[in-house]
Amino acid sequence: MPLPKAELHLHIEGTLEPDLAFELAARNGVKLPYADTDELREAYRFEDLQSFLDLYYELMAVLRTERDFEDLADAYLARAATQGVRHAEIFFDPQAHLARGLDMGTVVEGLWRALGRSEENHGISTKLIMCFLRDESADSALETLDAARPYLDRITGIGLDSAEVGHPPVKFREVYEAAAALGLRRVAHAGEEGPPEYIAEALDLLGVERVDHGLRCMEDPALVERLVRERIPLTLCPLSNVRLRAVDTLADHPLPAMLDAGLLCTVNSDDPAYFGGYAEDNFRAVRESLGLTEERLRELARNSFLASFLEDDEERRARYLAEVDAYAF
Ligand code: HPA
Ligand code: ZN
Repeated sequence: MPLPKAELHLHIEGTLEPDLAFELAARNGVKLPYADTDELREAYRFEDLQSFLDLYYELMAVLRTERDFEDLADAYLARAATQGVRHAEIFFDPQAHLARGLDMGTVVEGLWRALGRSEENHGISTKLIMCFLRDESADSALETLDAARPYLDRITGIGLDSAEVGHPPVKFREVYEAAAALGLRRVAHAGEEGPPEYIAEALDLLGVERVDHGLRCMEDPALVERLVRERIPLTLCPLSNVRLRAVDTLADHPLPAMLDAGLLCTVNSDDPAYFGGYAEDNFRAVRESLGLTEERLRELARNSFLASFLEDDEERRARYLAEVDAYAF
C-alpha cells in the first residue's frame, strides 16, 4: 500500500483519460477530432500552459450530463484510492461548462453523486473547490459565484486557474471578498508561469490560505521567508512542471531546496490524465529523480493533511496523520 496522502491540487477535468473521453463522446454523440486514443495521446505534446489548456478545454466537450461528471469523478476516485489518497480536495472549472450551455447544477450535482459516496466506495473523504478562469473577466467570476449560491453546501472553497501571465490576482479581488463573506475557503494558482509578485498579491489582495504551484517563489528570498514564517502551504505538481516546462527535467525540480528552506510543500498531480501520473506516481517520481529520503516523503505526506481544509473534522485529520506516522516503507 502506498504512503497515505491528501491530494490538494487536482483538476477533475484533468483526470479525463482518453478511454473515458471516447466512451463519453460515443454516449453523447460528440465527434472528437481524433481517430482513436493513440492519436489523442499524440496531441499531448505540450510546450507550455496554454498549449495544454487548449486541449484540456477542447476535450471537455464530451462532458454533457450529470452522469458524465459522476463517471469522471468516480473513475478518478477509484484510481486515487490505489495511489494511497485518503482525502481529496478537488477543483472544478464551472465557467468552461457554463460556456458550453450546461448549468451549474449538472456539474455540481453530477460530481456530488460520486463524491457523496466516495468514503464508502473508495475510502476517500472529499471536498470541492470551485475555480474561476483567470483569462475570463472579473464580472464572469462574480456571475459564476452567484450561479453557485444554491450549491454552497457542496462547495468548500474557491480557486483561480487557467492562463496566468497577464491575469494578476488583483483582477479577482472583489469576487474573493464576496466568497470570503460567504464563508468559503480561498486558494489560487500563482507562480506557476507567473512571477513571484503574483504569489504575494494572492496572499495580500485575495487572502488565499494556500498557494497552488507557487514554484517561482524561489526567485524571491524575502517571499520564501514570508511563506515559511506564515506557514503558507504550496501545492506543488512535479510531473506537471516537467510536462509544461516549468522545469527542464524532474532532476532540476526545486522541491528539495524548497523543503530545505522550510516551506510547507505538498506533492500533487494537477491534471494526471495529461501529465503522466497520479498522486503516488508523483511521489515515486520525486523519490527516484530527486533522491528524497523516506523521512522527507513522510514529511510531504504529513504536510498534505496539515494543509488540507479539515478544520471541520480535526479528529479525522489526526487519524490520517497517525496513519502517515505509522506507515512502514
Ligand atoms: N494551471 C492553470 N490552470 C489549470 C491547470 C494548471 O496547472 N490545470 C488546469 N487548469
Ligand atoms: Zn493546477
